Amino acid sequence: MAGYISDDARRVTTHRLVEMKQRGERISMLTAYDYTMAQIVDGAGMDVILVGDSASNVMAGNVTTLPITLDQMIYHAKSVVRGVKRAMVVVDMPFGSYQGSEFDGLASAIRIMKESHADALKLEGGMEIIATVRRIIGAGIPVMGHLGLMPQSINKYGTYTVRATEETEADKLMADARLLEEAGCFALVLEKIPAELAARVASELTIPVIGIGAGGAVDGQVLVIQDMLGMNNGFRPRFLRRYADLFTVMTDAISRYISDVKNADFPNEREQY
Ligand code: KIV
Repeated sequence: MAGYISDDARRVTTHRLVEMKQRGERISMLTAYDYTMAQIVDGAGMDVILVGDSASNVMAGNVTTLPITLDQMIYHAKSVVRGVKRAMVVVDMPFGSYQGSEFDGLASAIRIMKESHADALKLEGGMEIIATVRRIIGAGIPVMGHLGLMPQSINKYGTYTVRATEETEADKLMADARLLEEAGCFALVLEKIPAELAARVASELTIPVIGIGAGGAVDGQVLVIQDMLGMNNGFRPRFLRRYADLFTVMTDAISRYISDVKNADFPNEREQY
């Protein structure tokens, strides 16, 4: 079985992620939303586990990330934290929990940290939320930024297409990235932007830059676990590499179970008391 097992069993921290960038070691990051999946992802040696608000899509079946609540994110985060020994657990602050005032944002951040025992938070946005980012970091909570395609703003964009292809938006993204680094963010996610722009951000910032649909010249990669395991047959964007076809594997297993039950073939004599 091909794989990468780190010989470093220590917990992954903000400090260690910066060290990884400095020595050119790429950072692996994947989402998880429940205990069982988190145990598997952590056991495989993942550096960072993101309890993404993509839970709204892949766990709850919503069309966007907007409906998921603070209570629901805390539920997912607590479940993930219980399954993790080594990876850093980062939790997305859900839409509406930090865009009001910096004090609302801080209160939501403190709730997530106190109730879930996660390691860090992720917020979408740059200049518009910088006071909140500073306030949360000021309370000692590590913040990961998120720029480029920001799914919580999908109703503003009206499309999931690549962001920052025009100079004005690219310049704003660059300025926001610098601002987030200055504010003290420990890392930055760049979603669905041109690879060249992402490479410029990663080479200019000293904090790690993690990409999704942002090319290979950044410091790490993140994907949604259901997508990379091929559980979601209809979702095949260009940036996605599918490492398994679990849709087929699971459908086949479930069909065989149905057929065994219907044929009174399960349970057999060895499978009963
Ligand atoms: O919610 C999420 O899964 C994310 C990743 C796509 C980066 O924010």
